[in-house]
Amino acid sequence: MGIETSCDETAVAVFDSVRGLLSHEIYSQIDLHAKFGGVVPELASRDHIRKILPLVRVALDDARIEGSDLAAVAYTAGPGLIGALLVGGTTAVGLAMAWGIPTVPVHHMEAHLLAPLLEDDAPGFPFLALLVSGGHTQLVDVRALGDYRILGQTLDDAAGEAFDKTAKLLGLPYPGGPAIARLAEQSVGPQIELPRPMLNRPGLDFSFSGLKTAVMLKVRALESEGLLSEPVRADLAKSFQSAVVDTLVAKSCRAIEQTRYRRLVIAGGVGANQSLRTTLRDKLAALGVSVYYPRSEFCTDNGAMVAFAGLLRLESKMSKSLEVEAHARWSLQDI
Ligand code: KG4
Ligand code: ZN
Repeated sequence: MGIETSCDETAVAVFDSVRGLLSHEIYSQIDLHAKFGGVVPELASRDHIRKILPLVRVALDDARIEGSDLAAVAYTAGPGLIGALLVGGTTAVGLAMAWGIPTVPVHHMEAHLLAPLLEDDAPGFPFLALLVSGGHTQLVDVRALGDYRILGQTLDDAAGEAFDKTAKLLGLPYPGGPAIARLAEQSVGPQIELPRPMLNRPGLDFSFSGLKTAVMLKVRALESEGLLSEPVRADLAKSFQSAVVDTLVAKSCRAIEQTRYRRLVIAGGVGANQSLRTTLRDKLAALGVSVYYPRSEFCTDNGAMVAFAGLLRLESKMSKSLEVEAHARWSLQDI
């Protein structure tokens, strides 16, 4: 069983090493946090407490098994909101004690980067991973299970955070990524010029806060001239999305040149972005590189990726004893 509670999704899944995914349940807290324009940590923890055990029950029923049939309970041990992590961690450890089985603490970003392995067309090791979520933007050299080297990362905002903050500037609801992607589809006007941060600098690091500020200045200027119409907001959304996608694609190509890998995995919430997926696939196809990504529902936070990462760790004897682990900050390189 995999339990995910690191942020604003309560999720539970059951994965079988022979039969594959038997069940997966997600309860999203989006409606709870929407009116605040972002996740309120204390509300998140309290809601995880309300939802987690009913979701465990449904996940077991859907899988047609009992808790005592399980081999282990995996849970996201970090990085994430500490209170939210503790709900998942203490629940997992409590259930595992009752069922007499081990627990497997899982690194949230490792679970994201292994999620494409849940699909039929799974990449083998080694591969390059572009991890783009609400809290992280990283290019990772994935040599083997547990052997990760971060090649580049954001120096300030994560890509998802930039989507969320820019959406707020455009008056769009939380979470901003899907809202911006939807608005961008309405754009018929010309692209509005925005910077492509860090592209003219060597290396594989990212920076998105300047891009968000550039959008803010454009919004203010357009507003003061009374020109911020609905079509112009759509043009801004599309131009912002293109700037993020161009930056992620250019750095990914650079990392491919550096590593000479022939496989790239996109994972994390921003990996659900269609424009990013198609642009990366087309660009890298020209270089003879295959792009792998999980289905959209496994790009954003889910229990299936935690159950799967937990299974791989269990099979490699990397499981832990019955102690609750929760790390608000935790590097992939320190697993
Ligand atoms: O992986 P995730 O569900 O949670 C974290 O681990 O952070 O990622 C959430 C992030 C949010 O910032 C959200 O706006 C973004 O992923 N996101 C998207 C899309 N769907 C979710 N960003 C761009 N386009 C999307 N379609
Ligand atoms: Zn995530």
